[in-house]
Amino acid sequence: MSVGALSVRAAASVGALSVRAAPSVGALSVRAAPSVRALSGRALSVEAVAPRGWLWQAGCVGHWSLSPRVSLGASGRRWRMSVGEQNSVGERVSAMRKPYRGDEETFEESHLSSLDPIQQFEDWFVAATKCKEIGEANAVCVATSTRDGKPSARMMLLKGFGKDGFKLYTNYLSRKAGDLDSNPFAALVFYWEPLNRSVRVEGRVQRLSEHESEEYFQSRPKSSQIGATISKQSSVIPSREILTKKNAELEEQYKDAEKLPKPSFWGGYLLVPDMLEFWQGQTNRVHDRIVFRRAQEDMQPDGVLTHEAVSGWVYQRLSP
Ligand SMILES: Cc1cc2nc3c(=O)[nH]c(=O)nc-3n(C[C@H](O)[C@H](O)[C@H](O)COP(=O)(O)O)c2cc1C
Repeated sequence: MSVGALSVRAAASVGALSVRAAPSVGALSVRAAPSVRALSGRALSVEAVAPRGWLWQAGCVGHWSLSPRVSLGASGRRWRMSVGEQNSVGERVSAMRKPYRGDEETFEESHLSSLDPIQQFEDWFVAATKCKEIGEANAVCVATSTRDGKPSARMMLLKGFGKDGFKLYTNYLSRKAGDLDSNPFAALVFYWEPLNRSVRVEGRVQRLSEHESEEYFQSRPKSSQIGATISKQSSVIPSREILTKKNAELEEQYKDAEKLPKPSFWGGYLLVPDMLEFWQGQTNRVHDRIVFRRAQEDMQPDGVLTHEAVSGWVYQRLSP
């Protein structure tokens, strides 16, 4: 379907900008007179008000630019372009706003009671792996905390999940491992931006068996095995050279071997979830949040706020 187009030419230095309307508007061509709002020094700001009924989308006018010279934006029926250096990039970040797709799902109350959160995670995870715009659906932010409550977070790759929990692999001497040694609780956050979905998982973490860690280590490419073996993860080192040297040494040492033995300081963790939250962003910003918790004495279904789900879980709807 062709869409209407609006061209705004503000000034030679600004250049021509093409603004397209949402397809639902139909094949209309509309002109709106841009007005120059401010011109001071090197800064110029142009504003065009869209005719009633038109939906401006930042995605249509081009992505937000954080370059120091030009920024584009749309909100409601108002479209703005700024040229100049009146704001720093850091200040312009506050105006970044992406329109969502408009066809987001919500959780139907009638389906929730039969939902198993692990199955629900699997459904969303599979959808994320099928989404071409998502490079690594298994990339996850993992938060840990010291015993005295100082949190830290880092990205990791999820390497398995199921009814038992969520599996991750790392160095047992790393900072995160130090946290987990003294405080075995952790949280995961997945964010699948093109689907407007996020999943949060919280629970207790335990080490995977040596056997399982060994099995996974042996499934990794030799280069990854060398990388894991040479790195005293999270320790301070004087230079990068020390790593490249060690890498070359191990490549030489194992040049005739197909695989390396798993170092004792490397292995996996299983996060056993007691909470999973599913967040589905909505175009109208009234996002959908459903949290599943393990049914416990203080978490019994009352049919009002807390509802029975399957497999020993209860669910609640949270305000966004
Ligand atoms: C996308 C991505 C995936 C990563 N996956 C892992 C991983 O699976 N295991 C790991 O130990 N580090 C992984 N890292 C590196 C960690 O983010 C982090 O630098 C490292 O684990 C040290 O963290 P720590 O000092 O908090 O222990 C990954 C980094 C990125 C950006």
